[in-house]
Amino acid sequence: MTSVLRIEGGHPLNGTITVRGAKNFVPKAMVASLLGDSPSQLDNVPLIRDVDVVSDLLRLHGVTVEFDQKRGRMSLDPTNVKVASRSDIDSLGGSSRIPILFCGPLLHQLGEAFIPELGGCAIGGRPIDFHLDTLRKFGAVVDKRSDGIHITRPAEGLRGAIIDLPFPSVGATEQTLLTAVRAEGITILRGAAVEPEIMDLINVLQKMGAIISVDTDRTIRIEGVDRLVGYTHVALPDRIEAASWAAAALATRGDIYVLGAHQPDMTTFLNTFRKVGGAFDIDAEGIRFYHPGGELHAIALETGVHPGFMTDWQQPLVVALTQARGLSIVHETVYEKRFGFTEALNQMGAQIQVYRECLGGSECRFGQRNFYHSAVVSGPTPLHGADIVVPDLRGGFSHLIAALAAEGTSTVAGIDVIARGYEHFTTKLGQLDARVAYAAD
Ligand code: UD1
Repeated sequence: MTSVLRIEGGHPLNGTITVRGAKNFVPKAMVASLLGDSPSQLDNVPLIRDVDVVSDLLRLHGVTVEFDQKRGRMSLDPTNVKVASRSDIDSLGGSSRIPILFCGPLLHQLGEAFIPELGGCAIGGRPIDFHLDTLRKFGAVVDKRSDGIHITRPAEGLRGAIIDLPFPSVGATEQTLLTAVRAEGITILRGAAVEPEIMDLINVLQKMGAIISVDTDRTIRIEGVDRLVGYTHVALPDRIEAASWAAAALATRGDIYVLGAHQPDMTTFLNTFRKVGGAFDIDAEGIRFYHPGGELHAIALETGVHPGFMTDWQQPLVVALTQARGLSIVHETVYEKRFGFTEALNQMGAQIQVYRECLGGSECRFGQRNFYHSAVVSGPTPLHGADIVVPDLRGGFSHLIAALAAEGTSTVAGIDVIARGYEHFTTKLGQLDARVAYAAD
């Protein structure tokens, strides 16, 4: 398989596809299995590269991972967990950000952990200071060396802590949960992220024997326990993938029934989708997203932590906004560099201008700094085909949507990146009657 897709655009996407478990949840639930002293079983697991990477990392640490891909069922047996070789960990490090979440479980089980160079999308600095500060608060010793970060558990074990996050970071909240559940005593986490994927991780940990309560003011209280057991769980569906297909339906004037899409996790997206002029029907199996005809409307949009408008929904929706009448304003407050993908859209005929200022309402922590984190989208602008190289996961999917909406033929190179988070996306494009084919590199 080559990584270049040739797309003949200008045709509506119509049909039915299925989304399975969330990319931002499944790898974390897999890591949680390390904390149990008996096997776990996870259902609704998608075939995406982040799942492969975490499976390989778990296997390096002695976990037996079996994946029935067709059924989406994974079993994870951590009873023979062991220290992995650093060079082996390193060989997997650059492909995902999940390795950092192994720290707490490994410190409890083995007394040591190692963080290799991390991967993930280049959409900002993506520091790990919150993670390291959190681990230190539990008493872990963090030693930054030239080959990576070595972390060890003190002789007396990890102790519960009071942690105040400077920003409701998803990863740092998960780091705290995965460490606190087996630390001695009580942990209070203030300023926590409360994304649905985090709530589902809490569901998993509770099944394992953890004691966790979530307050309405972003405070999470965890009472450490001595022992956790394996879990059986069905992963919540991927609300980012569902929203991406919704944006594709809108931008191509199509009609996509997304089986598995779950309304309660998408309330904010659905409100925005409706304000832009999109229509949807919700039933027990999923959500049908469609362009009801007529014009789309420009909007002012600000991304934020849950329950706000998710940053990962922003890039796909911006493509639809290029087809809306008027000026849309988009203020990105979670990542400082998430508008790089707009260059390719402009090359295809869009009119998107990016600004350093906080446009459209509140001041964010990126204001008055050199980050182009606001955008003004002027529409509607017809899009035309172009040769594009995929920049990152969500930006890449946006480019796919733009190419599908554009008149003429596009080539989209580097589409392998999209497989990190979108299961069987080329097959799904086929199910939606998209005119796509692999091209030679
Ligand atoms: C997760 C999601 C990603 C989503 C993001 C925000 C996964 C695998 N990825 O990423 O899809 O876009 O949440 O919803 O679940 N930060 C620091 N220091 C830290 C950690 C984070 O400054 O130690 C900053 C980041 O640079 C960013 C912000 O906090 O500006 C939010 O990051 P965070 O919520 O931690 O994102 P991830 O967990 O990496």
